[in-house]
Amino acid sequence: MDKQKVYVTRRLPDKALHMIAAECDLEVNPHDRALTRAELEAAVQGIDGLLCLLTDRIDGPLLDLNPNLKVVANYAVGFDNIDVAACTERGIPVSNTPGVLTDTTADLAWTLLMAVARRVVEGDKFTRAGKFKGWGPMMLLGGDVYRKTIGIIGMGNIGKAVARRASGFDMQVIYYAAHPLSKEEEQRLGIHYKKFDDLIRDADFISLHVPLNPATKHLIGERELKMMKETAYLINTARGPVIDEKALVKALQNKVIAGAGLDVFENEPVLASGLDQLDNVVIVPHIASASVETRTKMAVMAAENLLARFRGEKMPNLVNPEALR
Ligand code: GLV
Ligand code: GLV
Repeated sequence: MDKQKVYVTRRLPDKALHMIAAECDLEVNPHDRALTRAELEAAVQGIDGLLCLLTDRIDGPLLDLNPNLKVVANYAVGFDNIDVAACTERGIPVSNTPGVLTDTTADLAWTLLMAVARRVVEGDKFTRAGKFKGWGPMMLLGGDVYRKTIGIIGMGNIGKAVARRASGFDMQVIYYAAHPLSKEEEQRLGIHYKKFDDLIRDADFISLHVPLNPATKHLIGERELKMMKETAYLINTARGPVIDEKALVKALQNKVIAGAGLDVFENEPVLASGLDQLDNVVIVPHIASASVETRTKMAVMAAENLLARFRGEKMPNLVNPEALR
């Protein structure tokens, strides 16, 4: 029997590529950049399996170029880059990489939170620029983190991991989620459910951990920013479009809130105009899951899902079971 043909849209940790190459004909995007749409369209033709990234848009017109595609394995926990309904209609199973990046992502949310509150990046730039002429009582004063209130929006695995980390800082943890947790679980995590507007008003730090979908697009816009405390900080390691980025730039310029820490952007990799001119924001290039260990685990997980499909086994992280009915 001919081997299954697999295309991987970006060079990934070798361990996963070796796993795939051991069973399939493997082709990998040779460039050190995301594929263009035209390249993706060419790549998808004639293959059996696609291992893709959050930078690849997988939609109906793309799928129609290859009626024989058997699986789409996404190298990310979020799968808003994939039109899952279009895959389901065509009987194509889709998988993601949940769980393995939970703690790494929670760590980065905290990194951003601490960095913006304690002005670490500003301080680094200041020091490198030779402006540090001696200790100053009013130099680079930030906001305290300990004993403050953190408001977590979205209480999936990552939201919970962020909540667990807050206890070390003696913080009060409030959360909002479309589906609140049971009282027992709230107690175990030491967190309190709030209505959305109450959380926005009460939190000193707001950290976003929802998936991107029509209900969460621009969840934080001008209205919410105006409701936040003037001393509050907004952290986003979820997906850029959850925040109206233009409104955020305006709020940061006018000091409507104290600051923001952003790993994701509304039109990645393009930043909203003016964002990179602001001192009260820490910005990093979508690196929340970017540790050597985690990226390897994600790649192996994506490969396992893809290979399970070809072996006729249950895909461990199938997001659209309806596709196979
Ligand atoms: C990264 O953003 C992911 O969804 O895994
Ligand atoms: C993250 O890893 C999740 O599954 O929510």
